[in-house]
Amino acid sequence: YFRMLIIPIFEKLPPQIGTKAQNLALKALIRKLANAKEFEPKEGRVFYLYEKKQILLGLGDVKKINVGAVLSAFGAATKTAKNHSTQKLSVVITEELLPFTQSIAEAVSLANYQPSASYKTGKAAEKLKKEFIGEFVPVFNKSLPREQVETAKKNFQRGLEIGKTANEVKDWVNAPPNFATPLFFDELAKKISKETGAKLTILYKKELQKLGMNTLLAVNRGSPDDARLVILEYTPKNADKKLAPLAFVGKGIIFDSGGYNLKPRGHIEDMQLDKAGACTVLGLAKLLPKLNLKQRIIIVAPITESLIGKNAFKPSEIIKTYAGKTVEITNTDGEGRLILADAIAYTIDEFKPKFLIDIATLTGACMVALGDRYAGILGNDKELAEKLQKAGDETDELLWPLPIHKDFSEKMKGVYADLRNADLGSERFAGASKGAAFIKEFVGKTPWVHIDIAAPAFTTDPKKYEQKGATAFGLRVLVRFLEKLA
Ligand code: BES
Ligand code: ZN
Repeated sequence: YFRMLIIPIFEKLPPQIGTKAQNLALKALIRKLANAKEFEPKEGRVFYLYEKKQILLGLGDVKKINVGAVLSAFGAATKTAKNHSTQKLSVVITEELLPFTQSIAEAVSLANYQPSASYKTGKAAEKLKKEFIGEFVPVFNKSLPREQVETAKKNFQRGLEIGKTANEVKDWVNAPPNFATPLFFDELAKKISKETGAKLTILYKKELQKLGMNTLLAVNRGSPDDARLVILEYTPKNADKKLAPLAFVGKGIIFDSGGYNLKPRGHIEDMQLDKAGACTVLGLAKLLPKLNLKQRIIIVAPITESLIGKNAFKPSEIIKTYAGKTVEITNTDGEGRLILADAIAYTIDEFKPKFLIDIATLTGACMVALGDRYAGILGNDKELAEKLQKAGDETDELLWPLPIHKDFSEKMKGVYADLRNADLGSERFAGASKGAAFIKEFVGKTPWVHIDIAAPAFTTDPKKYEQKGATAFGLRVLVRFLEKLA
C-alpha cells in the first residue's frame, strides 16, 4: 500500500508543507538539490524522493502561473506517482494554488486514466490495473482560512468528478466499433438516464423513417446495425419552467470508413474516434446534476456507422433531409454534417432551445488549419462563441474562431439539389468553414455554435495530463461554460 505526496514548489518562494521546521528542512534540501543540479523548481520539473515517498513539483514563477501550466505540472507529477505503484496520492495545495484547486484535481484524475476495459490479457492486463491510483487527497496548510479551505475541498471533489467522467468519455471514444456498438450506446444512455433522472428517448429506424430523417438514414445504409437518435432531457430540481432549454448535439459516427469515398491507409485506422462528439455530450449529461442549473438541458446524439456495402449510399444520390431541403451527396466521407443536419433541425423543431451547441470531429481541414492545440468554433452567435472561448481558456481546452463567409455557403449549394454535402473543385480550401456553412442551413435563427474537435479529440502526442488516444476534449470546456451560466 503506497502513499505518495506531491509538494509544489515555486521559484523564489519558501516551501509550505507544514510546520516552520518542516518548511526549513525542505528549503535546505531544495537548495542542496539545486546545487547538485538535480532539481530546480522550474515549471513542470518533477523530482521523486524515494525515501520520503514525496514528489517535488516545480511550478516556476508564481506570477506566470496559469491553468495550462498547472494541468501539465500536476499531470506530470501524477504520472511519476503511477510509475511507482502509488495507491493513495496526497496533493499539497498552497495559498497561491487555491484558485487552481479544481484544475489540479482534474489534472491528477485525467493523468490517472487507465482504460477500464483491458483488451489485453494475462500479465499485461494486471500491470494496467496496478498502475491505477485509487485515492486523491488535498492537503492544506493549517494557516489558511477555514472557509477558503472548505471551498477548496469542494472544488477538489468537483475536479475529481469531472476528471473521472472525462476518463469514462475517453473509454467510450477509444472503444473499437465492435465494442462500442449502437447497442452499447443504448445501454449507456439508459444508465445515464437512471443515474441523472434525465428523460431518455431513443428514436429507432421506424421513427426516423416516419420523421423523414433521411440523411441520418442514408449514412446508416451500409451498416448492419440500425442508426438511432439518442435524446436525454434533463430537468434540474429547481428548474425555471419559463426558460427555454439549452441543447447540445454530438456527432456519433461509430466508425467512419468514409463510405464509397473510402478513406485510404493512414487515414482510416483511428476512425472509431469519430463518435467523440456524441461521447462528450453524453459525459456532459452525466455531470448535469452537479451543475446547479436553472434551465432544462437537451442532449442529442445521432449514432451510426458509415460503411460500404450493397446498400450503402453513394456519391450522386440526392437525399431529402428532415428539414425538407434536398442534398446531393458529392462525397460520402462528409457524413458528419449529414447526420448533424437532421439531428440539429429536429432538436430545434422539437425543443425550441435558447441556443444550440454542436460538437463534432467534423473535418480534417480543421486539423490542418489549427493543429491539435485548438478546436475550431464557428456559428452564428459571436457572444455565445466568446463565452465558450473564455471557458476554454479556463480549462486549457482552447477554441479558436473560424469564419463562415457567405461565399462558403454559396459553395455548398447543389447543382441539382438545394445543397451538396461537399464542395467540388476547391474542396481542399476552408473545409472546416464549409462544413459549418452546410450545417448552418439547418439551424435557422437559433443561436448556434459549432465546435470542430477533429484534431484535439484524439492524440498521438499527448500533453503531460493526457495519454495517447482519446482526450475527452470538449467535456471540460462545456462543463465550465455551464458552471458560469448557473
Ligand atoms: N471524420 C472525418 C474528419 C476527421 C478527420 C476527424 C481526421 C478526425 C481526424 C470526417 O467525417 C471527414 O471525413 N471529413 C471530410 C470532409 C470532406 C469529405 C468534405 C474531410 O475532412 O476530409
Ligand atoms: Zn467522414
